[in-house]
Amino acid sequence: MSDWEEVAKVGEIETGTCKSVDVDGTQVALFNLDGEYYAIEDVCTHDGSEISCGIVLGEEIMCPRHGARFCIKTGEVLAPPAYEDIESFPVRVKGHSIQARDKRWD
Ligand code: FES
Repeated sequence: MSDWEEVAKVGEIETGTCKSVDVDGTQVALFNLDGEYYAIEDVCTHDGSEISCGIVLGEEIMCPRHGARFCIKTGEVLAPPAYEDIESFPVRVKGHSIQARDKRWD
């Protein structure tokens, strides 16, 4: 099982926004939705754009290039032109530390 890594501090990411962070060598988009944190790989499954540059619409992120939409909480694809989900990463908060890990190594 991979280790939890600190990726940000509580208060560093405003609600409704995200930050691109490194989790064990993978770029991940870390979102704050009303004080709950979620992480998905920072790559659009349509054509590889950085999803962290997209527009947050409630619980969805819209890719800045061609408008595909994904669920921020799960990485599930919600609208074309993408048809594959984005990998999601577990996130936890320990004190003031926001931590994530890459569950693909479990
Ligand atoms: S690269 Fe994201 S919709 Fe095309």
